Amino acid sequence: MVSRVIPVDTFDLVIFGGTGDLARRKILPALYRRFVSGQMEGESRIIGAARSEHSKEEFQQIIADAIKEFDAKAYDKDLVAEFVSHLDYVHVDALGEEGWQTLAEKLEGDRVKAFYFSVAPSLFGALAERLRTNGLADQNTRIVVEKPFGHDLASARALNQDLAEHFDESQIYRIDHYLGKETVQNLMAVRFGNMLFEPLWNAQYVDHIQITVAETVGVGGRGEYYDKSGAMRDMVQNHLMQLLCLIAMEPPARFEPDAVRDEKLKVIRALEPVPHDDIVRGQYASAGKNPDYLSDVGDLTSRTESFIAMKVKISNWRWAGTPLYLRTGKKLRARTSEIAVVFKETPHSIFGPESGSHRNILTIRLQPNEGMDLGVTIKEPGPGGMRLVDVPLDMTFADALGPDAEDVPDAYERLIMDVIRGNQTLFMRGDEVEAAWAWADPIIDGWETRGDRPFAYDQGSTGPEESMMLMHKDGRRWREIKA
Ligand code: BG6
Repeated sequence: MVSRVIPVDTFDLVIFGGTGDLARRKILPALYRRFVSGQMEGESRIIGAARSEHSKEEFQQIIADAIKEFDAKAYDKDLVAEFVSHLDYVHVDALGEEGWQTLAEKLEGDRVKAFYFSVAPSLFGALAERLRTNGLADQNTRIVVEKPFGHDLASARALNQDLAEHFDESQIYRIDHYLGKETVQNLMAVRFGNMLFEPLWNAQYVDHIQITVAETVGVGGRGEYYDKSGAMRDMVQNHLMQLLCLIAMEPPARFEPDAVRDEKLKVIRALEPVPHDDIVRGQYASAGKNPDYLSDVGDLTSRTESFIAMKVKISNWRWAGTPLYLRTGKKLRARTSEIAVVFKETPHSIFGPESGSHRNILTIRLQPNEGMDLGVTIKEPGPGGMRLVDVPLDMTFADALGPDAEDVPDAYERLIMDVIRGNQTLFMRGDEVEAAWAWADPIIDGWETRGDRPFAYDQGSTGPEESMMLMHKDGRRWREIKA
């Protein structure tokens, strides 16, 4: 039961950094899948642009190999051969003049032109400028940029200014791939497409909200980047922040880019500063032959966190008094991302104190096993007294929507097609990114100034003990991270 595919207009997509890791792992496999689905058709072209010298044929081979390596499930020799016939390559120097004329000649015509900056952010400004000076910035032009979008407010502002000198905000697509995930969009459908939840969606009925994004992987080969970021910059400032916004925002008047982004921005601006007692940071310890975080990043004195848990408050009418607990980390027990909305207990139990404490919990599972369940309290079956038990009303989307539900486009497929369609709803606006940094900066400054060391935690655990205490001191507890 997957919606039908509507082909997008013919386009030219130029990928700067076209032979890089992201392009080979994510962007081109995503485009291949959209090609196979029939969404990218006709004369559309994808042009790799990078510093290295490659012929068109070599680039086509690199991408065919990448699809085989990173998307073995969808790999089909003939289809891949057809797909790569749409690929071209230009050797371009982002900081010099080389290659730009050739690129401009290839892009003549008035079709949609998208430029994907899959390169270091330090090159964003230079690329934007060269696009403009080479006559490639017209009303059909869109540019796509990836995180990290800055590492603090000042750098994010500088990047925004660099881009704004050459492009209008309506042409800039800042990707946060979490927004492209199917269930993340479902969050909006569930909240705003049902009568059931919205009346209860506030501090009067919701005790607290938990957002968990747990990963089993470590920092892998990205130690150098990761150690400069940590979980706060790598995950909380962007991905968890987006989830928080979608769960907490007011209903936008329409599902339109600025209406949605205005509401998200209001949430970020209403976030309270987080006192350091409400934050727990951790670093994974070694486990047998598996090195610890410090060895993984190659800096035995690093104070960067691979885990963070924090209590966040939103000062507005809807949420005053209802905290949100965020938690994310690497090398944890399981790969699982979920949002749990924990409702308050009934104001009075007619079943007496022996019936125990019960709460409804709406859990939205982002990955894996996408779906949601609503914990409801019922009578424990059997004779005897009125004993209560909590059971889940479970809806796994793959069960409810049939096997095709597993074939929904992945985040990059959806987001790239949205760029071509010119729909910015699932992209971050410049002011949103800045507001998120404005909130994150003092928190990060706090622990950097104090010189706090993260707590050690076991690989395969649920994070440091202290993260449990963060909840316990409020009389609450984290939901399990289940393998
Ligand atoms: C990226 C982070 O943005 O998101 C990674 O840089 C992280 O550190 C990844 O592993 C998680 O994405 P996903 O889609 O696997 O949950």
